Amino acid sequence: MISYGKQTIDQGDIDAVVDVLKGDWLTQGPAVGIFEDDLQKYFGAKQHVCAVSNGTAALHLAALTLGWQPNDIVITSPLTFLATANCIVYAGATPDFVDIDSISYTIDPNKVEKKVKYYRSIGKNVKAIIGIDFAGHPCDWKALREIADKYDLQLVNDNCHALGATYLNDKKYAVKYADLVIQSYHPVKHLTTGEGGAILTNNSDFDEKVRRLRAHGMTKDPNLMDENDGPWYYEIHEVGFNYRITDFQCALGSSQLKKLDSFVENRREIAKQYNNLFSNIEFIKTPKVQNTVEHSYHLYPLQINFEKLSLTKVEFFEKMKNAGVNLQVHYIPIHIQPYYQKRFGFKKGDFPISENFYQNELSLPVYPDLSTDDQKNVIKKIEEYING
Ligand SMILES: Cc1ncc(COP(=O)(O)O)c(C=O)c1O
Repeated sequence: MISYGKQTIDQGDIDAVVDVLKGDWLTQGPAVGIFEDDLQKYFGAKQHVCAVSNGTAALHLAALTLGWQPNDIVITSPLTFLATANCIVYAGATPDFVDIDSISYTIDPNKVEKKVKYYRSIGKNVKAIIGIDFAGHPCDWKALREIADKYDLQLVNDNCHALGATYLNDKKYAVKYADLVIQSYHPVKHLTTGEGGAILTNNSDFDEKVRRLRAHGMTKDPNLMDENDGPWYYEIHEVGFNYRITDFQCALGSSQLKKLDSFVENRREIAKQYNNLFSNIEFIKTPKVQNTVEHSYHLYPLQINFEKLSLTKVEFFEKMKNAGVNLQVHYIPIHIQPYYQKRFGFKKGDFPISENFYQNELSLPVYPDLSTDDQKNVIKKIEEYING
């Protein structure tokens, strides 16, 4: 079965993990700090990268670190994985959504500003914005930063899809614009640690708080403790979690990170083949790339106007599955999830661009190991079924 995404593991990765398994530290050892340093060098956060157990944990810690409270409104895009919006709910804050821009599929800054102004006009304040670099296409971060500064908002980058992408010719863009950056290293992402994630920031206070919350809220910093009974002593002044990542996961992460640029190149090559074949078909829309951006294609979201075809999206999806190609759909817009409708009053029709995107979207296979023959086979099947 060819899947829409999967990990690429080589002997170097396996050796790196085995080395750690043969050593003294399975967790809380040196490989964690080494991985954090490697990430810091690649993504440019000034010494502040905290690796955690997964991207969802990273989002949860971001919400707590930024101090979101009940009555705080946090704006994000409905076109994202559940965890982006769920982290707002974890903190007890109120999520609201702003529709995507129809070219980049990322949150539309003009609509963000409109919404912030609307809330101000009714005496409410927006606390933060979470932008998602959807599919590997960075948001319009300059515009989002300007809005955040103008209205005194916090800015978070859910960067899980865009490792290795560039914005304004810069691979280190994410921490330059956002107060906190979240990554995931799930196997379908650009690099993997199995489960895993990180929080990156240029703000040392945020970093210290994230680190405490990653490990139960514990501190051994004499400046932060009320007492000090001896070298074993620690205190908690807030409740944290066990969101640690293991050393063998981090060894895999460091080994994978060395190959990130070549992984991204492979993904771009695969995307180019799809673009060449599908961009001239009237009822198909390939992903567009703004000229400020180099896409890193975590996903290849193809939009097909099924109204123009003699088969439905469900029929097409199932035919592809029967032919050995497991497509996916990214995403069901979050505001139409029953929980969000019932708890926060969202309804179908609230964010029409995201909803229309969902009607038409299918994610085609894109991962570094996808062979030319397998990609040709995927393309042949798509052409066969859409041409009836
Ligand atoms: C945009 C986005 N945010 C957050 C997450 C959560 O990451 P994880 O699966 O590592 O918890 C994902 C993972 O699928 C994601 O795609």
